[in-house]
Amino acid sequence: MSRLDVTECYQGISFCGHLHTQESLQYATNFQFQDTDTLIVTYPKSGTTWMQQIVSLVSSHGDATRVQTEPNWSRAPWLEQYYFCDLLKVQQGPRLITTHLPYHLLASALQGSKAKVIYVARNPKDVAVSYYHFHKMANFLPDPGTFEEFLNAFLDGTVHFGSWFSHVKGWTNNANNVKNFLYITYEEMWQDLRGSVEKVSRFLRIPLQDQELAAAEKHCCFSSMQGNSMVNYTLIPQEIMDHSKGKFMRKGKIGDWKNMFSEEQSRLFDAVLRTQLSESSLTFVWEC
Ligand code: A3P
Repeated sequence: MSRLDVTECYQGISFCGHLHTQESLQYATNFQFQDTDTLIVTYPKSGTTWMQQIVSLVSSHGDATRVQTEPNWSRAPWLEQYYFCDLLKVQQGPRLITTHLPYHLLASALQGSKAKVIYVARNPKDVAVSYYHFHKMANFLPDPGTFEEFLNAFLDGTVHFGSWFSHVKGWTNNANNVKNFLYITYEEMWQDLRGSVEKVSRFLRIPLQDQELAAAEKHCCFSSMQGNSMVNYTLIPQEIMDHSKGKFMRKGKIGDWKNMFSEEQSRLFDAVLRTQLSESSLTFVWEC
């Protein structure tokens, strides 16, 4: 199967040309947010689909009908993908929108907006491993080469959506410039799913009864999502995502990086992380 990847560059950041065009990226940066919008922001492979599921289930008070009948990309369309521009234009009522864009590309669109922004971060070693495996199955992304090659590109910020470090710093350093901002990590969701669902429900001001919370939790745990074709990407044609090469819902764990990183790669990564986040108070959970 030949790969479909084409790389687009927009304001210095590389994007997948198959999904993102100059027009769709411009549309995203000039987007008119409404105060009732909820925007999920992540660097790829940080728990995007998981948060889409959590917000959908909080919004439905735990009723799973929608998450079992409508794919995540339709419930929570990506702002920057050209397929979804029209969908966002016609959506009525509170919109759930997803983006991987770095802060500086959305800063002016979000200025003064009361839209709710949920930023999900994940420990970057697990992000790198998950992204590497995703590149192998996603034919719209470049061939990642060896893990060593991919890791170097990840550390250099030359992968799609640019540098993880800049992404996390950009959004968290500007948290005060976004009126309604929630920061949460993949690891927190993993260690305390019920507490995380409650946190999201408080942030969205959608209080849930105990049984609604329990239902929401049930439908956003890994095993349930792994078997749900509305979130596991098995609906996507094989020529775009090749499920014979790997699963989208792959492992869903903290610390899988230990199975991929050599000691030397881990040391190099730690050194880059220390330098890049030297002025940040962010901390990550690396294993459980
Ligand atoms: P792994 O490749 O490490 O398994 P994204 O949605 O941002 O692309 O992130 C995908 C990653 O989140 C994958 O990580 C996937 O397995 C994991 N994931 C998705 N839903 C999850 C859940 N309910 N619990 C734990 N991990 C989940």
